[in-house]
Order: sequence, then structure tokens, then C-alpha cells
Amino acid sequence: MSTSDTIQPILEFVEEELSFATSYYNERYLDRRVSSRMRRTDSGSYAEYYSVLKRDEAEQEELLDALSINVTGFFRNPSVWEGIQTLLRKLTDEKSSVRIWSAACADGREPYSLSMLAHSDREIDESRISILATDISEDALETARGGVYQDLQTDDISSQLDFLGRPTQYITRRDDSVEVAETVREPVEFERHDLINGRSKSGFDMVVCRNILIYINDEHKTPIFETIRDSLVEDGYMVIGKSETIPIGMRQEFESVNAGDKTYQYPGGE
Ligand SMILES: C[S@@+](CC[C@H](N)C(=O)[O-])C[C@H]1O[C@@H](n2cnc3c(N)ncnc32)[C@H](O)[C@@H]1O
Repeated sequence: MSTSDTIQPILEFVEEELSFATSYYNERYLDRRVSSRMRRTDSGSYAEYYSVLKRDEAEQEELLDALSINVTGFFRNPSVWEGIQTLLRKLTDEKSSVRIWSAACADGREPYSLSMLAHSDREIDESRISILATDISEDALETARGGVYQDLQTDDISSQLDFLGRPTQYITRRDDSVEVAETVREPVEFERHDLINGRSKSGFDMVVCRNILIYINDEHKTPIFETIRDSLVEDGYMVIGKSETIPIGMRQEFESVNAGDKTYQYPGGE
């Protein structure tokens, strides 16, 4: 690879021709994904891969697939869910209507985990809870609305559901898939939303926005946190991913509730 061999033409092609906003994401992440496709196509340089990409539509699909950040699961990072459980008990005790936003919800397992948690805990009044779940990806939302998940060995849904103790009433098991029960789906509404360019929402008691910020470059993180802040009620809660951080310029806007589980509270205006 010569020093003039750069990833830039590939990223520009993906942004302009394939309509995937590479400029939102951090370069280390993009480089890892492009490099993995380069290995798969035996391309020895970015330039070589770029010429493959331009002429091969199947490879364009493969790259888009590799770039979509869709790793998710039910009850991902269980200790975080213990914290969310405590907050949902408190919120439903104090308020007759509790609105939660699962932002960047991927294929729906995160908002369905919220709903299952609410249904499974006697100390949480699930009838008070409504959940809005959003993502930028229409494909992810289609799976989410369907509520059916393939149970592959590498993606063991039963162990993900261990958090619930006895999950059987919330899922129906088929041969190689799991279907989420109607009672769990009922409080969840799905909608497409872009966290960087989309408008803020309002009136949310909790925003769960996990495992997207690690892929986003610093410049685009601040608009995401502004969107979350403006969507929260006074004293509303924000939960971000375990390895994610609030940009320095936004830290004073949130108070830490549980540093390890990355749970914060927005004290409100002024
Ligand atoms: C790794 S998944 C995280 C899913 C879930 N929150 C979790 O923690 O398991 C990241 C999700 O962010 C979505 N995403 C990427 N950019 C986005 C944006 N600008 N606005 C909204 N969602 C976005 C992707 O489509 C993907 O579904």
C-alpha cells in the first residue's frame, strides 16, 4: 500500500452513491469494517478494493451490511437492567404515565426488554408505561415490528432472557426462532428517527440510548446528547452504553446516578 492509498474515495462513494452517512462515524470503526471486506475480496489496497466496489453491486451490499452496526440483544449488560428496574419501580410509583424512549433500538430487543421487565416485576405498574423505539435503519425497524428473532447458536436468546427468570409467558418458541408475545409488543411503538439530524422529542421520563455513541465521531456526538437532553422532562433519566461517555462540553448538563452503569439524570433547565 502506498502512502497515497487512502480510504477516503471509498467513504465518499459509500456516502454519495450508496446513501450511507459515513461522515457520522469514527474513522477507526469505518476502517475496521472496510478492511474486513478488503480481506474477504483479496484486495491488497484501498484503491484495489475501491475498483471492486464500484463495479460489483453484490459487494456494495456486503459492505453496507458490514457497516451497519446491528449488534444487540435482550437485556444486554444485565447489571444495567437491574438499575433500570429500580428506576422503573420508582417512576411508576410516582407518576401515572411514564414515557420511555429507546433511541437507536436496532432490531427491537432493547425496547422489548424494557417491556418484558415492566411486565415481569410486580413492583412495576406496566399499565403506566409507554415505549417509543426508534432507529435510523428501516431494515432493523422491520424486524423489530415483526418481533420474531432467529435463535442461532452464536446468538443464544434463551441465555439473553435469563435475566427474567421465567420468560416463557413473554415469548413463543418455534423451531429455530423466538416470537415476542403480544402483551410485550403492545406498549412499544416503532418509528424511524435519525439521532444526529432528527428533531428532539419531548416529555420523556427516560431515554435509553446505548451502544451507538462508540461508533460516532466526536463532532456528531454533541447533537445526539442535545437531542436526548431536550427530549427529557426535568429530572428525567438517560442511560448510555457501558463504554460510552458524555462529551466534555455536555457533562455539566447531566448528574450521574450510577457511574458504572452509565445512568444519568437531567436536572432541568437554567
Ligand atoms: C449497536 S446497535 C445498538 C442497539 C441497542 N441500543 C443495544 O444497545 O443493543 C446501534 C444502532 O444504532 C443505529 N444507528 C446508527 N446511526 C444512527 C443514527 N444516526 N440515528 C439513529 N440510529 C442510528 C443503527 O442502525 C443500529 O441499529
